[in-house]
Amino acid sequence: MTNWWRDAVIYQVYPRSFADANGDGMGDLAGVRDRMPYLAKLGVDAIWLSPFYTSPQNDGGYDVADYRDVDPRFGTLEDFDAMREAAHEAGIRIIVDLVPNHSSSEHAWFKAALAAGPGSAERARYHFRDVDPAKPDTPPNNWQSVFGGPAWSKTPDGKQWYLHLFDSTQPDLNWDNPEVHAEFHSILRFWLDRGADGFRIDVAHGMVKAEGLPDTGGDGSIEMIGTTQAPFFDQDGVHEIYRTWRPIIEEYEGDRIFVAEAWTDSAERRALYLRPDELHQAFNFDLVLAPFSAADFRKAIDAEIANNAGIGAPCTWVLSNHDVHRHVTRYGDGPIGLARAKAATQLLFALPGVVYVYQGEELGLNEVLDLPDEVRQDPTFFRTNGEQIGRDGCRVPIPWKTEGPSLGFGDAEGWLPQPEGWGALSVEAQDGVEGSTLEFYRKVIALRKEHKATGLTWLDEPGENAFAFDNGALVCVVNFSDEPLALDAFEGEVLLSSAEIVEGRLPAGSAVWFAK
Ligand code: NOJ
Repeated sequence: MTNWWRDAVIYQVYPRSFADANGDGMGDLAGVRDRMPYLAKLGVDAIWLSPFYTSPQNDGGYDVADYRDVDPRFGTLEDFDAMREAAHEAGIRIIVDLVPNHSSSEHAWFKAALAAGPGSAERARYHFRDVDPAKPDTPPNNWQSVFGGPAWSKTPDGKQWYLHLFDSTQPDLNWDNPEVHAEFHSILRFWLDRGADGFRIDVAHGMVKAEGLPDTGGDGSIEMIGTTQAPFFDQDGVHEIYRTWRPIIEEYEGDRIFVAEAWTDSAERRALYLRPDELHQAFNFDLVLAPFSAADFRKAIDAEIANNAGIGAPCTWVLSNHDVHRHVTRYGDGPIGLARAKAATQLLFALPGVVYVYQGEELGLNEVLDLPDEVRQDPTFFRTNGEQIGRDGCRVPIPWKTEGPSLGFGDAEGWLPQPEGWGALSVEAQDGVEGSTLEFYRKVIALRKEHKATGLTWLDEPGENAFAFDNGALVCVVNFSDEPLALDAFEGEVLLSSAEIVEGRLPAGSAVWFAK
């Protein structure tokens, strides 16, 4: 099978924070275009761009007001075209983000729904329910928003409730309504016609709600991360939608793809999204959730391979994205966090399947945990009254230069401040520097292309809290422990190690590849 997306390296661009070409403090599509040589040199096959559509930006653009236009903060449709062209010239494919579970409350449909009133065709595109005069403060069911607080808000006239699994400015679309289906078919075609090579589907396990919107168990709270199947998530009916999308994308040339953000209970449930007439990839978030331990990683890897191999779908590995704490910080921050992050990365790149890289991880960026409250923008922070700090800390603008108002992100200060010390992590500081994290990523990506994994066979455990496997092209040994690991059992040329091997021992929290 020669599909490009079976073993690709795909780089996630969070446009607000990648590169600011017009100096307004917010990243933009022209900034992405300008950095295409950087991405080409890194060696990625495709980029996935988080939403850049017209949006009030109450949830970083995942609140879409117009699915067919670019927000002026990010540029214009012409800027999209120019960026796509630069990418394609560099041999890089473009995956755009599709947000079908909800629109923004600023979307023309929601505005029309509010104007039209109860019982109207306009309201039937969302989930509206009457306020019960006997219990005016009791929402139609017990569902809670993923971002905290109730999943229902009242219309301005106080007569109806509307459902929003996320922020109150993100009303859920009603996927029982054929108009919604037709609209998204048309949106797919709009971006396919404009040269998008694929779609990342936001909340791909959402959209379909259980008949009658029944209460969920417990207190009704929703976890996006590590969710359990619920009346609002991972309903079987969602698969019918994808069966209508697949033929549309297949009409277009160029082996274009869908990648699902589907938080499911198990690898088995996730694999359902990957049946041949549905989606091409689904992120495996188990390694995002796993502690840095050989047993936890091995369990997640085995489950993914076992479930995906049977249906011929690629495993889709990821360690960081714009919703979770960066893995350097998850693994302990500082030198140890960085060492472990590089080890986990090297491991990921040895696995069969697809690897997603989140912007800035190639620089070894840490999560910024101490942003002042005044600059925070994540609705999670506000909806939990600050109990959860939210996701702004992984969205801090990228440092490109050692100095300057936003370390080369743009000519002005960025929309979030960068912490002290990030100049030393900038692209400028690491470019061409032997041993830098950036050069490590460049090397690991290039070597992976030369040594393509064909499978995975576990080898005898080389020591406590360590593992080794043969991927058909190389042998990968990972030391998750806090002690150096003797490598006596292994032979062959060392292709790459995430830390220097000292006297035949692999340092704590590091990985090595041996040629076969
Ligand atoms: C998942 C996205 O990755 C996240 O950033 C967003 O807040 C929610 N979906 C809602 O769209």
